[in-house]
Amino acid sequence: MNIHTYEKAWLVASMVLIVGFIATITYGAVGPGIAMIDDDGGSIDPDQINDDERFSDPGVTHLGGNRYEVAVVAQAWSYNPSEIEIPANSEVTFYVTSRDVTHSFTVVGTNVNTMVVPGQVSQMTVEFDETGEYGILCNEYCGEFHHTMEGKLNVVPEDEFDLTELSVEAPDEVEAGNETTITATVSDGMQTDLETTVSLEIGEQTYERDVTVAGAGSESVEFAVDTAELETGDNDWTVTVDDHEETGTLTVGNETSGGDGDA
Ligand code: CUA
Repeated sequence: MNIHTYEKAWLVASMVLIVGFIATITYGAVGPGIAMIDDDGGSIDPDQINDDERFSDPGVTHLGGNRYEVAVVAQAWSYNPSEIEIPANSEVTFYVTSRDVTHSFTVVGTNVNTMVVPGQVSQMTVEFDETGEYGILCNEYCGEFHHTMEGKLNVVPEDEFDLTELSVEAPDEVEAGNETTITATVSDGMQTDLETTVSLEIGEQTYERDVTVAGAGSESVEFAVDTAELETGDNDWTVTVDDHEETGTLTVGNETSGGDGDA
């Protein structure tokens, strides 16, 4: 049987195309690590989101090693949290749900693009190898301000990332000569121990205390402040842990001035 040369050429060309299509589709499905969103994330009552352990205080949680979990609540017309920070070289599992209508959670420039349906939790795991800033936006029309629904995902260098939190309890005023206590609580959002130094500056005085906070735990440090060393009136204080800072003012009252009779 004699096949015309043109016909042969077209046969070969169409074979190459078919193989090419299959190869691209296979690569697209497997190569870049795309996983279809399924019901792994489970379901949730949209009215009970505030009672849910994961979504009542959404945000980034360290799971150990380079693995993180990010819980996000979508609602018309914002994401909570609106700005997410994660370290480079991390594997992040997103859990996203909606409080009201159907939205999407789309991280521009990545494979993260999922519908967010009320009652369902969309779950997907993504690896972020390099630093970068990504926009998050909603792809599902969700009402009047759909176009303003956006967020931000920042992938920062590993050594700039931290989940440390600092809170300070301090009295507003104290009688001159009395001792008073300023309490700093450091919580460690990582699963690894945090060794750091807490410092308090007040007036001319500086107090420092080394502290080791267990992974996923918190430690309180009490600074006994001798007000005899402070000036009468307002004394600004600053508590510092690594890059975190809390400030306030302690008013030292002069007992001879009498005050308003609470002595
Ligand atoms: Cu949410 Cu569009």
